[in-house]
Amino acid sequence: MKQIGFALALFCSATSWAANDGMPATASAATADVERGRKLLVNRQETGCVLCHTIPGMKDGGEMGPNLQGLSQRLSAEQIRYRIADPRLLNPQTFMPAYFSTQGLHNVAKPLIGKTVLTEQGLEDIVAYLLNATKGP
Ligand code: HEC
Repeated sequence: MKQIGFALALFCSATSWAANDGMPATASAATADVERGRKLLVNRQETGCVLCHTIPGMKDGGEMGPNLQGLSQRLSAEQIRYRIADPRLLNPQTFMPAYFSTQGLHNVAKPLIGKTVLTEQGLEDIVAYLLNATKGP
């Protein structure tokens, strides 16, 4: 019974969040880790976030995307998660990659087909870091 409830929750969250401005916390939020999030954010090969963003607590940020200073004061955790998961939902023209979606990808290397750039845990680790690092001025 427990399992059915879980599958149902997963199904509902996967289908409903895309239509709103906000993605609810996933099950992995419970085990989110700020330090793992920091490592993912600075990793130019895995995520490349610092190529485009200046991020509090990190040096040499890029300027192609908005400065993430004060982020958690202007956006909720759900809104931040949403923007990282698939920024195209808000701006179809954006050049920020979708880190938790495989929608619309073509010509993907076979071993990577169906895989998102970030795992669910990685997404939550990054959200945890950003919430923590941007709550002050
Ligand atoms: C190629 C450049 C690029 C990369 C790489 C990139 N972003 Fe972005 N990001 C942008 C742009 C541009 C926007 C503005 C949204 C738009 O285009 O409409 C943005 C918006 C955002 C926002 C919303 C900021 C706000 O103030 O509204 C967040 C949060 C964010 N990015 C986080 C990330 C994270 C975390 C990563 C890595 C996992 C990342 N970005 C990687 C370019 C990038």
